[in-house]
Amino acid sequence: MTRTALVTGGTRGIGAAIATALKDAGYSVAANYAGNDEAAAKFKDETGIPVYKWSVADYEACAAGIKQVEVDLGPVDILVNNAGITRDGMFHKMTLEQWKAVIDTNLNGLFNMTHPLWEGMRERSFGRVINISSINGQKGQMGQSNYSAAKAGDIGFTKALAQEGARKGITVNAICPGYIGTEMVRAVPEEVLNKSILPHIPVNRLGEPEEIARCVVFLAADDSGFITGSTLSANGGQYMV
Ligand code: CAA
Repeated sequence: MTRTALVTGGTRGIGAAIATALKDAGYSVAANYAGNDEAAAKFKDETGIPVYKWSVADYEACAAGIKQVEVDLGPVDILVNNAGITRDGMFHKMTLEQWKAVIDTNLNGLFNMTHPLWEGMRERSFGRVINISSINGQKGQMGQSNYSAAKAGDIGFTKALAQEGARKGITVNAICPGYIGTEMVRAVPEEVLNKSILPHIPVNRLGEPEEIARCVVFLAADDSGFITGSTLSANGGQYMV
């Protein structure tokens, strides 16, 4: 039986690597994206993975988008909540808009995407929900009070929902990537990256998106059913919990 996976923010960065790795592992995959049509079209051409546009910050749009994916590919067994944004700034300079944008996408997005899929997973007695949190949700990060709050919230959501899904064959896990070489990290001022971040990564390099994707493939597997409520850190040794 071919299982279906849906990856949010799945056409660029870590999400694109996740979608591709799941396809390579034999899953039927759909990739959601919110804004960059050009990148999505390129991703679709290169991988053959169908792409679907909606914002994970919009509950109604998520419900409608999921419905369409299920019409096209069948029931979603594996949800990867990967979509995320940054609006970095020191707290004393942070606007309400920066705060809300990050909470809406990075935290509320998990509710908006998981809620419409939850009942189906319960009925079928199988599900995999994999939430891409962050090292900065674990340790906190200056300049990221919004992002760290949302990503820490993702871990709490994971642990609570794991307990609810356990008896129904649904696992819920979080992955906490460290600094991965994507556009999001490359947007950090070079001086900050070189002076304040890279020296704190013991493996002495940024991570690769594929190194997160392999964590997802592991947790998505049918025989990973005993792993739930866990937080898998992949951060080059930068933070150990
Ligand atoms: N770690 C340690 N120190 C940091 C830091 C960081 N991540 N970010 C900023 N600082 C330090 C700076 O080095 C600077 O120190 P000095 O005064 O000693 O030079 C001080 O804080 C003030 O920084 P700025 O001069 O840059 O202040 P600013 O107001 O111009 O900008 C900022 C503040 C927007 C937060 C900017 O510094 C920035 O973008 N920092 C990066 C924040 C960060 O780490 N974001 C992670 C993005 S990647 C991601 O989120 C993915 C993931 O999950 C890991």
